[in-house]
Amino acid sequence: MDTQYKKVAVAAALKSGALIKRSVGKIKNISYKGRINLVTDVDKASEKLIIRTILKAFPDHSILSEESRPTQGASGYKWVIDPIDGTTNFARQFPFFCNSIGLEKDGQLVLGVVYDPMRDELFCAEKGKGAYLNGKRIHVTAITTMSDAFLTTGFAYGLNRIKDNVDNFKRFLMRALAVRRPGSAALDFCYVACGRFDGFWELYLHPWDCAAGVLMVTEAGGKVTKFDGSEYSHYDREVLASNGAIHKKMVKVLLTE
Ligand code: IPD
Repeated sequence: MDTQYKKVAVAAALKSGALIKRSVGKIKNISYKGRINLVTDVDKASEKLIIRTILKAFPDHSILSEESRPTQGASGYKWVIDPIDGTTNFARQFPFFCNSIGLEKDGQLVLGVVYDPMRDELFCAEKGKGAYLNGKRIHVTAITTMSDAFLTTGFAYGLNRIKDNVDNFKRFLMRALAVRRPGSAALDFCYVACGRFDGFWELYLHPWDCAAGVLMVTEAGGKVTKFDGSEYSHYDREVLASNGAIHKKMVKVLLTE
């Protein structure tokens, strides 16, 4: 894996992060993609900046990004981008949001960069090279019991989709140490990768919420599957990410009727 990809992704993440941070409390425009699914002018500006930085370096790469139409390049590389993950948090000045930049080569994730501008935390993973937080290697936890597990989840936009996860939430709440719903899937993955959480599950996420984070967890020694433990792709609509040691127990809870 050529580190020029990493350099460009990190530069884009830091530039976009600076823009996001200086825009907190200064949103000029909010529009709605659904009743509770909002997008701000800052999402769009961050997206423009990230895509411009990437395409300047790699004009023949494809782009899949949350707020714009996908573009197809001639190479086998595709960047999967969330310009602000945790937009609702950002809009309400709740300091838990980030940008997320993943890179696929011929469909396989090879690079993930997630930047939290409020904490100045840069998560970075390269296929086969491990996961890092601000340059320091990170690892998942070794927790093996559900009663010790500190878990996180999220709820998709749309009432029926929210309902779909309420039973899971209740089941984990009754069994785990605690369950949180912080509001940024990309950071949820990163927090599993660096051992702040032991596990994360969610339904109906999009590839841009997951691409970078999934690689972060696997490169930190964790496991990512669908709810039933089967093979996962970041294009799937359900995800279970954990430290590995607690994975089977989480599958069991998710499969409980
Ligand atoms: C959302 C966040 C949230 C998750 C939602 C996502 P967005 O992404 O990751 O945690 O629960 O399902 O859509 O819209 O803020 O980029």
